[in-house]
Amino acid sequence: MNRRILTVFGATGFIGRELLRCLNNEKRDLFSVVRIFSRKNKDTSFLTDLNLNVEHIQGSITSHRDVESAVKGASHVVNLVGILYPTKNSSFDVIHHESVKNIARICNSSGVQQLIHISALGSSLNSSSEYARTKALGEKAALSLFPRSTILKPSIVYGPEDDFFNRFHRMAKISPVLPLIGGGQTKFQPVHVNDVAQAILVSLDEKQNVVSGKVYELGGPHVKTFRELLRLLLRYSDPPLKRLLVPMPFWLAKSQAIAFELAYQLFGVAPMLTRDQVELLKADNIVTAGSLNLLDLGITPKTLSKDTLSYLKS
Ligand SMILES: NC(=O)c1ccc[n+]([C@@H]2O[C@H](COP(=O)([O-])OP(=O)(O)OC[C@H]3O[C@@H](n4cnc5c(N)ncnc54)[C@H](OP(=O)(O)O)[C@@H]3O)[C@@H](O)[C@H]2O)c1
Repeated sequence: MNRRILTVFGATGFIGRELLRCLNNEKRDLFSVVRIFSRKNKDTSFLTDLNLNVEHIQGSITSHRDVESAVKGASHVVNLVGILYPTKNSSFDVIHHESVKNIARICNSSGVQQLIHISALGSSLNSSSEYARTKALGEKAALSLFPRSTILKPSIVYGPEDDFFNRFHRMAKISPVLPLIGGGQTKFQPVHVNDVAQAILVSLDEKQNVVSGKVYELGGPHVKTFRELLRLLLRYSDPPLKRLLVPMPFWLAKSQAIAFELAYQLFGVAPMLTRDQVELLKADNIVTAGSLNLLDLGITPKTLSKDTLSYLKS
């Protein structure tokens, strides 16, 4: 009998939900148990549609005890936990670095065979963005403390429940203008959420022996500037939208971000933009030439098209 147990940290997020759907639809027999690790009070009603043998564990990756009990007996671990802005209880360093150290150490001492850690394209120890620096520290920690880790680094991930296109689509529905932060010249390589989920699945299954200790950069087939992405969004929205794209210098975007951050501190409203995200937008977010990528995992990435953006309905 199959005794492989998979623990997924961050399983209730955007990529995690797609991973569970793919596991359910395509690889139901890969694991005897799938442990869904999420924080308290999380809506897990989507799990009722799945036929996977699921164990639900509530906790935080910041707690050594919670992580230990989630990993106990597991053969495979996927870490999808990440934050876009720090909160009162969770700094970037705690979530992207210290907790990854903790997970990797516990994987090492618990007999786990494989850890798939999802980081982000653009992570760099020299970045001016704390998000990108702490993501780089997390990758380094995972590979040194659990050398059989596999690091997957996606560019912007899109799909029906994404944050990027849906956010700008919501903005376009109520505003005649959209901001081109920094002039809109930053380059991205958006990757479909299903391609990211497939990358995790093949890493857990047929490519398990080749991905160990390696870093993969996950991007779609085309490089697009921020301006081109907003144009595509307007063109492929249903119905198509006409909006003015107005360049907004980085300094102005930062002063708006200060207002959003203040509103978050005072009223708890999730910030639309932070100063750290403005810093991130200063560097291109594309797959490095010569890096391992989706094709090395046997996946041909989906094209950004009217079909793959068909969820942008008014
Ligand atoms: N989406 C993208 O465009 C993109 C691009 C590049 C890299 N990534 C990376 O890919 C990973 C997954 O992204 P995503 O878009 O699926 O993110 P997401 O939708 O925000 O999901 C993040 C998950 O992490 C969980 N989480 C956050 N803090 C936690 C904590 N302290 N303890 C336990 N769980 C916690 C969240 O649960 P709660 O909801 O309960 O907080 C959620 O399930 C992240 O590491 C992200 O940085 C994403």
